[in-house]
Amino acid sequence: MSDVTLTTLQSLKQSGEKIAMLTCYDATFAHAASQAGVEVLLVGDSLGMVLLGHDSTLPVTVTDMAYHVAAVKRGNQGALILVDLPFMAYATTEQCLHNCALLMQAGAHMVKLEGAGWLAEPIRLLAERGIPTCAHLGLTPQAVNILGGYKVQGRQEAQARQMRADAIALEQAGAAMLLLECVPSSLAAEISQAVKIPVIGIGAGAATDGQVLVLHDMLGLALSGRSPKFVKNFMTGQDSIAAALSAYVQAVKSVSFPAAEHCFSA
Ligand code: KIV
Repeated sequence: MSDVTLTTLQSLKQSGEKIAMLTCYDATFAHAASQAGVEVLLVGDSLGMVLLGHDSTLPVTVTDMAYHVAAVKRGNQGALILVDLPFMAYATTEQCLHNCALLMQAGAHMVKLEGAGWLAEPIRLLAERGIPTCAHLGLTPQAVNILGGYKVQGRQEAQARQMRADAIALEQAGAAMLLLECVPSSLAAEISQAVKIPVIGIGAGAATDGQVLVLHDMLGLALSGRSPKFVKNFMTGQDSIAAALSAYVQAVKSVSFPAAEHCFSA
């Protein structure tokens, strides 16, 4: 495929074709996933859990992220590389700009920040300086200690109203993409309609503009042996990892994934 850019993702949203995103942490999987047609490789701070065995994403550092971005860049065949800014790497403006520079120089094309309305300021600063951003709303794992666990977000009307308002404010601030994690399908559908930028979901229903899963989860490699409700094991019925990756892309494009059993109600 020709190189995926922000323009590609915007065109996919406009045409109604779903975007396939997958987490990726090394050159071999970057090669396999981009060859399978995954448009966005997310170097997620989930690597702290699935690669390093931590019980949350909080111990992950910018050095860890830069190391894995550089590996993904070496294997990538034209996908857009999105990287997580890890916990507290964007707590101040100076830290945010400095750490984004390191990650973009390592090979990322876009950075992802977890939060809510307060992200408007860093997103605006980054857009002005030529760094596209993805704002991660809903269940934000870096805030697990405030949220009291990995729980569905936006079920109460006040929370839902706030999330809709935040999504619009962050688009206006210059966000290039939104990611919604573990929110009711109806709320994710409303937000996807309300903004012009692509909205990617994980546990957010089928009406978002694209889907993302953690690579190890969709290959049936969850460390705990238990997967969240929104995960489908794409190795089932396949005889190779390449076939499982292609099945994921096909399922996202044909909107056969996520099915009702992978979604949350309001
Ligand atoms: O770090 C990550 O893998 C993520 C996904 C759960 C979306 O942010």
